[in-house]
Amino acid sequence: MRRPSLPAWAWVALAAHALFVADARAAARFDAATRVFRLDGERVTYAFGINEAGQLQSLHWGGRLADGDPLGPAKSLPSHSSFDLSASITPQEFPAQGGGVFTEVALKVAYADGNRDTVLRYVSHTLERDAVTVRLRDIALPLEVSLRYTIDPGTGVIGRSARIENLGRTPLRIDQAASAAYTLAPQDDYRLHHLSGRWAGEWSLQQRPVSEGASVLESRRGSTGQQNTPWFAIDRGGSSGEDSGPVWFGALAWSGSWRISIDKDPLGAVRVVGGYNPYDFAYRLAPGERLDTPVFYAGYSDGGMGGASRLLHRFERERILPGGGKPRLRPVLYNSWEATEFAVDEAGQMALAEKAARIGVERFVVDDGWFGARNSDKAGLGDWSVNRAKFPNGLKPLIDKVHGLGMEFGLWVEPEMVNPDSDLYRAHPDWVLNFPERPRTPARNQLVLNLARRDVRDHVLQVLDALVTDNDIQFLKWDYNRNWSEPGWPQLAPEDQPKVYVEYVRNLYWILGELRRKHPKLEIESCSGGGGRIDLGIMALTDQVWPSDNTDPFDRLSMQDGFSHAYAPAAMMAWVTDSPNWVNRRETSLDYRFLSSMQGALGIGANLNHWRDADFATAARMVAAYKQVRATVQQGDLYRLISPANGSPRSATLSVSPDRRQAVLFAFLHSQSKGMQEPAIRLRGLDPRQRYRIARLGGGALPEAMPAEASGAYWMEHGLAVPMRGDFQASGFVFEAK
Ligand code: GLA
Repeated sequence: MRRPSLPAWAWVALAAHALFVADARAAARFDAATRVFRLDGERVTYAFGINEAGQLQSLHWGGRLADGDPLGPAKSLPSHSSFDLSASITPQEFPAQGGGVFTEVALKVAYADGNRDTVLRYVSHTLERDAVTVRLRDIALPLEVSLRYTIDPGTGVIGRSARIENLGRTPLRIDQAASAAYTLAPQDDYRLHHLSGRWAGEWSLQQRPVSEGASVLESRRGSTGQQNTPWFAIDRGGSSGEDSGPVWFGALAWSGSWRISIDKDPLGAVRVVGGYNPYDFAYRLAPGERLDTPVFYAGYSDGGMGGASRLLHRFERERILPGGGKPRLRPVLYNSWEATEFAVDEAGQMALAEKAARIGVERFVVDDGWFGARNSDKAGLGDWSVNRAKFPNGLKPLIDKVHGLGMEFGLWVEPEMVNPDSDLYRAHPDWVLNFPERPRTPARNQLVLNLARRDVRDHVLQVLDALVTDNDIQFLKWDYNRNWSEPGWPQLAPEDQPKVYVEYVRNLYWILGELRRKHPKLEIESCSGGGGRIDLGIMALTDQVWPSDNTDPFDRLSMQDGFSHAYAPAAMMAWVTDSPNWVNRRETSLDYRFLSSMQGALGIGANLNHWRDADFATAARMVAAYKQVRATVQQGDLYRLISPANGSPRSATLSVSPDRRQAVLFAFLHSQSKGMQEPAIRLRGLDPRQRYRIARLGGGALPEAMPAEASGAYWMEHGLAVPMRGDFQASGFVFEAK
C-alpha cells in the first residue's frame, strides 16, 4: 500500500500523538527519549533499557514506581577488571555466550563454521497495550532473537519468552536456550525458597541464602519431575517473612526438562535464568527455522511469601487454568484406586458408585485396570480398549448407572506409555524412545512412547478421541508413571534427535489442546505418579492436579503447605483415604482426614465397602459442609497462619472469599506436649469493621467460651483459642459476615 503524501514532520507528529494516546491506558510503554521500556501492573514496575552498546539492560523489577520516575537511559557498567568485562557484569535481559560473558547465559549457539560467539544488539520493537516484543540481532550473523514481554495488569505478573530464528543460509545449533534472564539489584540478604521432593514425598519447602555459587533447580527427566518444581521465590532475610516484606518469584510454564539457575554475579546482582535445560540439549535450526521457548513468569509482592502466593494463585486462576478466567469449582470426586487397585469390574464399581452417591460425591472415577490385559502393572498399557472380562458389556452400563446416581463419570488413562507386554508394543516396537541396539530400561514395567513422532502423536489423539466419543466420559485422570531413559529418536538424523526434548512436550500440549477442542466439556487431571508433572504449562491444559500418591492426612498438611507456595488450591486434589494409611500405617480419625483434604479440592479414595454407618454419616456431613465453603477454599485468598513445616506441633490456614464475607479456618494439632494450652490463632484478611458469626465446619457445638460473633478486628487482633488435646486433632470453623 502506498502512503498518502504527507510531509515527514506530519508523520512524526501523528506517531507521537498515537504513542501519547496509547500511553494513557497502556501497561507497556517505551520512552523514546531515554530508550526505556516499562511495564506497570498492579503494584509492580518492570523496566529495562537499550544502553549505549545496544544491549538490553535490566533497570528495575520490584514495587511500582511513579510515572516519570528517572529510569534511564540505561548505561552499561564499566569493566570491573580485565577479568570481569562490561558485557559480563552489565545485567543483560538476554545474555548470549560471546563477547566475554561468563555469567549464566540465556543463549548459546554453535554455527556451521565453528564459531560459537553471539553478541546481541537491539534492532527494533513493537508495542502493544500489555506487551512488548523486542528484536535483537547478532552483530554480524543472521541470527535474530525476539524477546516477548507481557504484563498481567491485575497481578503485575510478567511473562517472558524468546523466539530464536536462523535467518541465514546455513544451519546452526542452539545448545542452550532460556526463556528469560531476570536480575535483582545487589543486596546482602537475599534468600532463595524452592520446592523439592520425590515420589510420595513431594512439596518440601527449602530455604537457603543466595550466595556466590549457583543454585540450580532442574529436571533432566523429560518431564517436570518430583525432585524440583519449576518455581522459585527470593525474599530478604532481614525484612521479609510470611506476612510482609519484598518477595520476587517466578514459575516456568514447561512440562519437559527445565532449568532455573540462581546466582550472584561478581558485583552481587542476582541473575535468575530459566528455560530449557541445556542438559543433553541441542536444537538444530535449518535456514528459516526458529525455536520458541516456554514462558517464564515472574512476579513481585511486598506482602511477604503469603502475598506472593496469593498473587500467583490469582494469576493461575485468571490467566492459566482453563475456564477463561473463571475456573469451574472442582466437583467432589470418588476414585477407587486405593480401594481396589487393578481389581476393577462392573459389579464392584457399581457397588462403590452407589455408596459414593450416598455421601454427596459428584464425580465417580474408575482408575487403572479397566482396559487391555491390565491385571497388574506388568501388561496392557497402550491397549485402550475395555477389558471384556471385567466389563462384559463395555463401560456403558457402569456409566449409565453413575449418571443415574447423579454423578459425572471419569476414567484413568496413561496415554504416553506402553508395557512391552501389550498389543501396541508388539505391533510398533519402534514407537518408544530408544537407541537402537541399546537396552530399553523399563520402569514400572513400562516404556515411554515417543510422542515427538507425528504418527505416535496422531495415534494417541485418535485413541483418546474415540474413547471419549464412544463413551459418555466427563473426566480423564491423565497419568504418567515414569521418566525417560535412552531418549533416542532413531528416525531422525543424529544431530536432530535431541529435539525430542522440545517436540515431545509440544505434541503433548497439542494432543491435550485438540482433545479439549473436540470435547469442550471434558475435564482433565494431570497426574504423574503423584505430583511429577505440575507446572504452569500443563495447568493451562488441565483442570486439576494430583499432588502426591501419599494420601496420609498428616504428611499432606506440610505437602499442601509447600504446594500452596507455587500452585493454587483451585487445582489441588486431596483425597480422604483409609486409616491406617498405606504409606506409613498412621491412624487418624475420619474427621481429621476430611479436614486435611478440605484444604484443597476434596476427593474420596477410601474403600467404602469397609465403612460403617457412622462413617457414612460423618462423610455425608463433611461433604455437605465442604460444598458450603469450597468456593472460598478453592478460589479465595489463602493465609498460611501457622506453618506445619519444621516439626511444628500445630498448623493453621485461613481462606477468605474475595468479597471477605466468608472465611474458613482449618486448625491442626499434630501432637500435644506436656499438657500445654494451644495459643490463640489470630486470623488475617478479614474486614476489621465487619461482624462475623462463627460456626463449626460440619456442625457441632462451639467450644465453651468461644464467642459466637465478633468483629473482624477481634478475630484478627484478639484471635480465637481452639481447644484441642491429643495427637492428630483437627478443627474447622467457618466465619460468615452478618
Ligand atoms: C499412579 C497414580 C495413582 C494411580 C496409579 C494407577 O501411581 O499416581 O493415583 O492412578 O498410578 O496405576
